[in-house]
Amino acid sequence: MIADEIREGLDVQSVGRNVICVDRCASTNDLAREAAGEGAPHGTVIFAEEQTSGRGRRGREWVASPGAAILCSFLLRPTLPVERIPLITVLGALAVTDVAEQFGVSSRVRFPNDVYVGGLKLAGVLAESRFRSGRPDYIVLGVGLNVNGHPSLHPATSLGRECGRDLDRTEAARSLVEAVDLWTSRLEGPVDPFREAWRDRSDLVGCSVRILHEGHESRGRVLDVHCLEGVRLRLDGGEERLFRGEHIEKLEKT
Ligand code: BTN
Repeated sequence: MIADEIREGLDVQSVGRNVICVDRCASTNDLAREAAGEGAPHGTVIFAEEQTSGRGRRGREWVASPGAAILCSFLLRPTLPVERIPLITVLGALAVTDVAEQFGVSSRVRFPNDVYVGGLKLAGVLAESRFRSGRPDYIVLGVGLNVNGHPSLHPATSLGRECGRDLDRTEAARSLVEAVDLWTSRLEGPVDPFREAWRDRSDLVGCSVRILHEGHESRGRVLDVHCLEGVRLRLDGGEERLFRGEHIEKLEKT
């Protein structure tokens, strides 16, 4: 993809005013961190055609065929209290569902950082923060969105596969930048739009799940998902319990 083509006609307030495209890198999250260290501005976005060490949550690898997916990282420098940092992952996943909707694809967010179409993974989000004097200095929001082809990792799908045709990645990239810009502009306001969209677009509410939490397994039915608090379950034994997101190692539907 070409940066000027992504920027063309982009309707944004802050995110996407600086767009960088590279052919190949280890991970766009690493490039964005380097850019942050060199003083790159809030809203810088870095796209790569190919990553040689793409990574996901909890050290998992993220593999995508060259030129098939959108692999990008947003450098964000919001004025955000620490307890709101989980909203960055939330906004990344919500932005992907906005993009999917623009292409006529109905997708759902799966706590904590995935977007699914039916039982197939469409996208993953990886937010990494750097702190200075106890406050977030900058946050890198990485997004891997399958656009064309049949992704090999996980039971997965792509937007193009769902639409039944190959899609223009530049168009999808522009739509993603605009969606991230919109959700970023809401970060410092009330949390309600995030909470409502997160619950409405969740594919977990009402489902039976298995949670691995600080080394223990629990099973139950999801009563609610909250964008900051975590996942509330009715355990199989009848008790109600909230599992905080940062302590959940694995969550699977059963
Ligand atoms: C996950 O599914 O656990 C998250 C996957 C995030 C992948 C994206 S691709 C662009 C950015 N660079 C990376 O190394 N990871 C993220």
